[in-house]
Amino acid sequence: MASLVFRLRQLVIVGVLLVAGYFLVLSLGFENTPSEFVNSNRISEEDSNPVKTIILHSDKDIGASKTKSSKNLELNQACNIPKLDINGTEVIGFFKTPAPLKCQRKNSRIEDNWVFVDMDGKLRFTEKRKQASCKIKYLWRKNDEENRFSDDVQIFDGFQMNGSDYATVKCIKGFEKWNSVLWDVNKIAEVEERAKNVSRNPEEKSLNVYFLGFDSLSQMSYRRKLPNTVKFLEETMESVVLNGYNIVGDGTPQAYIPILTAQTEVELPLTRKRYSNANYVDDVYPFIWKNFSDSGYATMYAEDAFNIGTFTYRLKGFRNQPTDHYTRTVFKELEKNPDWNCVGSIPLHRMWFQNARKFMKVYSDIPRFLMMHQSLLSHDDVNLVQVEDEDLTAHLKQMKEEGLFDDSVVILMADHGHRFAKLRETHQGQLEERMPFFSISLPKSLKNTEKGKKMWRNLKENKEKLTSPFDIHASLMDILNLSKIDENEFEIEQDAKNQRSLSIFRKIPEKRNCENAGIEAHWCTCLLWKNALENENDRKLSERLAKGIVKAINQELEPEIKLCAPLKLAQILSSKKLLPDSGVLAYKNVKDNDGFVPDLSGNTHAAFAHYQLKIRTTPGVAIYEATIFYDMLKDEMKLDFASISHVNKFGNTPHCIIDRNYYLATFCVCYDRI
Ligand SMILES: *[C@@H]1O[C@H](CO)[C@@H](O)[C@H](O)[C@H]1NC(C)=O
Ligand SMILES: *[C@@H]1O[C@H](CO)[C@@H](O)[C@H](O)[C@H]1NC(C)=O
Ligand SMILES: *[C@@H]1O[C@H](CO)[C@@H](O)[C@H](O)[C@H]1NC(C)=O
Ligand SMILES: *[C@@H]1O[C@H](CO)[C@@H](O)[C@H](O)[C@H]1NC(C)=O
Ligand SMILES: *[C@@H]1O[C@H](CO)[C@@H](O)[C@H](O)[C@H]1NC(C)=O
Repeated sequence: MASLVFRLRQLVIVGVLLVAGYFLVLSLGFENTPSEFVNSNRISEEDSNPVKTIILHSDKDIGASKTKSSKNLELNQACNIPKLDINGTEVIGFFKTPAPLKCQRKNSRIEDNWVFVDMDGKLRFTEKRKQASCKIKYLWRKNDEENRFSDDVQIFDGFQMNGSDYATVKCIKGFEKWNSVLWDVNKIAEVEERAKNVSRNPEEKSLNVYFLGFDSLSQMSYRRKLPNTVKFLEETMESVVLNGYNIVGDGTPQAYIPILTAQTEVELPLTRKRYSNANYVDDVYPFIWKNFSDSGYATMYAEDAFNIGTFTYRLKGFRNQPTDHYTRTVFKELEKNPDWNCVGSIPLHRMWFQNARKFMKVYSDIPRFLMMHQSLLSHDDVNLVQVEDEDLTAHLKQMKEEGLFDDSVVILMADHGHRFAKLRETHQGQLEERMPFFSISLPKSLKNTEKGKKMWRNLKENKEKLTSPFDIHASLMDILNLSKIDENEFEIEQDAKNQRSLSIFRKIPEKRNCENAGIEAHWCTCLLWKNALENENDRKLSERLAKGIVKAINQELEPEIKLCAPLKLAQILSSKKLLPDSGVLAYKNVKDNDGFVPDLSGNTHAAFAHYQLKIRTTPGVAIYEATIFYDMLKDEMKLDFASISHVNKFGNTPHCIIDRNYYLATFCVCYDRI
């Protein structure tokens, strides 16, 4: 009898403690959640279906999962970078595998080029055409619109094409004729002399900049279309892909002007050519390649488009040739070809990579700055660029193996994502347009120095920070100035409030936001937390998501159902969703010719969102926080068990399972604890 009384008393105490604990836990739960997101209504008994759930198990380690979920989605972090689904429902239908380029069609007039330039700048005749009679005309830039030509020069197999980087060629053999355009990179003696004139710190080797840009490829599309390239970059080159790289304006000039000058077109003097008082861009823009050539670098700027040149289509172009090697001159001739993607039998992109390699090779004794922007394959087609994936990978591999990247900072990037109306009308398309691919790799020689180690560590940390084209300017300046920068400067956090261009090699504050970074709201991809319990529809959906989570937990518990009670949803403590600024979804196009005035009359609807729910389950008093990805079109959610955390202490409710299956302890309420 006495022992029964004792037991009863024990039960009462335990009960009181449990109830007290329950309220303590609830209040703790509320404390972490902004009050506007809190819903204290109990779950209605009304039967709403759980959302269909795809369960992922990326990481069963509970400890790791907690830090992961709270790190990604901390409320006080200034910029929540969107995590996009590469196969996103709204956009995946746009993508397919293109047919390979056929520059050498059978049964048509196109056959092997008769003459080509080899790596030593010698002209080679193909075997079948050894007897052809060929003449070239060298050509040079007169201005950005016109070229001047030499007289005819008779050529032969092994002829050294050293009069200019560019020539047109005409051949005759019997009744057959062939003509084409030749492109080479010849070493300029003056450039070497200029380099030798600059006194440099012999202790520290100058780093080369090798920058290959692409038109219209979001990070997601770059990964979709150039998967081998990305694999090589990430795995072999140890490139860092900036996940928070956000554009600052519309189109290609607004992508490159900030990189090249740290300013915007609007801030710089007028260069728009339809105005009679417009300036040439090189008269008024402080182009960074000038700083590099002043420091003794050989420079090359290339674009594979004459008609839609970044600085000539809408802007007035260059008065003088901007860099030591400049391809606009030859592209005027190449664009007379019927098929822009091919130079006779050679895919243009191969010639592109060959000349990038030549530039790096012919100036191997001096520092080099190369910037090439390629648009032909990706500007008008979301799929075609895939045809160069293998060639690009092979090119990078060859460059690395030949040691041409040994002292080079290698950047592969894109100006912005696709801008086709159909894609832009989608929620994911809006974000992808604003989030182009940007990757950067540092050479081993640098990473082995104390300074380089710090830069490398900062760069890796900045992978998940908000970054912009303005930052690339500061970063290139760091490369140029590296020998003068004290190692300790890489330990100091940059001043995000007062500086728009931050170097990606230095510390960038967590709290940096679009405003600090010079990114207008309608370009800003940072996501904002919105209450997902605000109206009836939101509340219904949150409840269905919560039920989906509980159902998924019960599925996990299924194998141990003899020990652990199935859980029921008792209450939604909070539910919030991550959405872009309303200006992003309302963005339709631009209203003016220059792309400065946004047309915000679009009405793209959100098609997916990350949700974070905090729920309480019974039996027991567990409170779970889970982050899920909800696809509104499919009405389906993805739940990664690594993102679920049990935010209150679970005490000894899972005592029956803890030694058997530690992972399930998070979810298990043993029957004897009910
Ligand atoms: C996307 O789809 C492709 C092709 O079906 C598939 O191979 C890939 O694994 C998917 N990727 C993701 C992250 O779902
Ligand atoms: C071009 O090459 C030829 C043959 O090697 C040489 O004689 C000539 O001086 C070179 N011309 C220039 C401009 O370098
Ligand atoms: C290099 O320096 C010499 C001597 O000062 C000068 O005459 C020459 O013009 C300089 N060359 C270049 C390309 O700057
Ligand atoms: C870069 O060159 C511009 C002129 O083009 C000059 O105004 C600027 O001071 C230079 N910057 C540095 C850091 O040398
Ligand atoms: C180069 O570094 C020195 C030393 O930190 C600094 O005084 C100078 O302003 C830097 N120049 C640029 C262009 O960053």
